Amino acid sequence: MKTLKQIIKAAEKKKVAVGHFNFAEMSVLRAAVDVAEKLKVPIIMGTSESERAFMGPDQAVTLVKSLRAMGLPIFINADHTKSLERVREAAAAGYDAILFDGGSLSFEENVKLTKEVVEYVKSINPDIIVEGELGYIGSSSKLLKEVPEGAAITKEQLTTVKEAKEFVKETKVDMLAPAVGNIHGMLVNAPEPNLDLARVRAIKKAVGIPLVLHGASGNTDNDVKGAIRGGISIVHVSTEIRAAWRKALNNSLKVDEEEIAPYRILKAPREVAGEVIEKKLRVFNKLKK
Ligand code: G3H
Ligand code: ZN
Repeated sequence: MKTLKQIIKAAEKKKVAVGHFNFAEMSVLRAAVDVAEKLKVPIIMGTSESERAFMGPDQAVTLVKSLRAMGLPIFINADHTKSLERVREAAAAGYDAILFDGGSLSFEENVKLTKEVVEYVKSINPDIIVEGELGYIGSSSKLLKEVPEGAAITKEQLTTVKEAKEFVKETKVDMLAPAVGNIHGMLVNAPEPNLDLARVRAIKKAVGIPLVLHGASGNTDNDVKGAIRGGISIVHVSTEIRAAWRKALNNSLKVDEEEIAPYRILKAPREVAGEVIEKKLRVFNKLKK
């Protein structure tokens, strides 16, 4: 089976993107795996610090690796890791990739800490992929009434080509997550801001490494496709899955208030999570609807 590095390289060449989906329990994980198997595409499952604390980092890794052992190209990312302590924990647990998220720090502090993280992770296992984050895009996968405070939205606030180039050169990250108009979470009463596709292309040209698009919930398919053409090789989606899962769960609990078997209650949430993931994977991998 190809390594995650090889899969990302191949995606970069084909101008498609690997789908990254967050999970905190089995129904979303199984949903994603079933769809990936059906569409025959690789996927990355992510756990933020809170998601992995809920499941146990070792247990989350073991679950994903046990599915990989069945021959499925499924990988696990330690998403939005904010301290060296959590980076150490993720590396020890056997995560395939780690995102060190210094997006809310000053440029200098972000460079300093990300560099330390890269040096540490590569000294433990050079095969673990390290991603750096540049620019603040909010921090929660939730339904939003307004753009998160402090999130980079205007042209001036987005990640600049100059900063991206310097950040990658100094830190030696394998992949970069820039702020290009994307935000974590999804606006409920308004369309998401547009992605700055010209900025994506310019950053990609300047850094030459795979770019990661976070916060893709709520962005239009056309915008996401344009970003992939411009140099995005991984796309993260969480809020849309959470929202669909939660709605189906409410409904499931209402339909039969006597039901207490988790596998019956979670059947519909698992199905709708799979529907969202399938739609996204078709867009990211240029597959017909
Ligand atoms: O790392 C997680 C993703 O960036 C999810 O963002 O909840 O806006 O889809 P989202
Ligand atoms: Zn993210």
